[in-house]
Amino acid sequence: MFQHINEVPGDAILGLMEAFNQDTRSDKVDLGVGVYRDATGKTPVLRAVKEAESLLVRTEASKSYLNAHGVPGLGDRLLREVFGAESLAVDAGRAGVTQSAGGTGGLRLAGDLIRQQFPGSTLWLSNPTWPNHQGVFAAAGVPMRDYPYVDADNRLDFAAMLDAVKQIPAGDVLLLHGSCHNPTGFDLSPTQWQSLVDVIAERSLLPLVDLAYQGFGDGLDDDAMGVRLLASQVPAMLVTASCSKNFGLYRERIGALIVVAPNPEQLRCVRSQLAVIARGNYSTPPSHGGAVVAEVLGSPELTALWKQELADMRERINGVRRQLVDALTVHGLEERFACIAEQRGMFSYTGLQAAEVDRLQREYGIYMVRSGRANVAGLNADNIEYVAGAIAAVCG
Ligand code: LMR
Repeated sequence: MFQHINEVPGDAILGLMEAFNQDTRSDKVDLGVGVYRDATGKTPVLRAVKEAESLLVRTEASKSYLNAHGVPGLGDRLLREVFGAESLAVDAGRAGVTQSAGGTGGLRLAGDLIRQQFPGSTLWLSNPTWPNHQGVFAAAGVPMRDYPYVDADNRLDFAAMLDAVKQIPAGDVLLLHGSCHNPTGFDLSPTQWQSLVDVIAERSLLPLVDLAYQGFGDGLDDDAMGVRLLASQVPAMLVTASCSKNFGLYRERIGALIVVAPNPEQLRCVRSQLAVIARGNYSTPPSHGGAVVAEVLGSPELTALWKQELADMRERINGVRRQLVDALTVHGLEERFACIAEQRGMFSYTGLQAAEVDRLQREYGIYMVRSGRANVAGLNADNIEYVAGAIAAVCG
């Protein structure tokens, strides 16, 4: 019955987790999948999350189905986190949240919506981008093209990006990373965002912002600056938000597709389509992750605790970036790797070639994505000098 089915290679990023777990070397270092690690190498459950979970154990009254858009109360609270306390789009009832299975689930909802409702449109992705963007939108049947994001030296090339965006046909969809660009770690400045928003508005493009790392770059508000600028200046946009990283809820698969429509009537129509898409895919969303986030954001005390924990994670990552540059400076590599301190979020596009990445894994047990992307959150005082020495050895 299944003789015709071939085995295919697994996902490159998730496969790294598997390979790392099977590696028996005691000095191995995981700089692969985008998961936060603390100074001891652990990925803890946040205290705010634990407290919300204890509250839920005591107060959750039913396990009956949710509606297609998710946990009551989650949507309004998430909208304020993403768009800020004062948002004209939110106040006007033009924005709505559909809970999804992680940010990736939100991307898939967006993909199905684009294929069904914008049949002639192409989706434009940054080159490079998170490889699973291609996987998700290919599965949804959305045609894709790319625009440049970095130059030959792997530095942000905003001029080339803007020139390319100016050529995108009206009505196409432009996928942007809200902050902490994956895989490069290069984000746009406020001035660059404004220039981009002007072009998007002028050319009537539909922006789709992937906001997977809000709070991991410069802060919850700073990281949402591009999204908020867009929401104030374009009539319609899509945003996918993830609570995997900023709430540490990776395995609970909690995220959302947020729609901003020109008016509440159009929003209602789009949401009705999303409910049908959800029904055809998985019917209604699971509760737990959404209930935890709603609980945290609904309590001033838990929100304050969560923001402090998020700030601690962000500050550790940004500190580690500087320490890595210092450790590489010892090997005379400061100039080549100085950009690591400028990048934001978990990832650094190191510029290491695939052959060098392979050597790091084979000879030193250091795991990173073959594009040269390293999750700097995997670094700590115990391994940073080892990693810098190994990078120097493979670059030498
Ligand atoms: C990553 O890029 O490593 C994360 O977003 C995890 C994933 O699903 O790939």
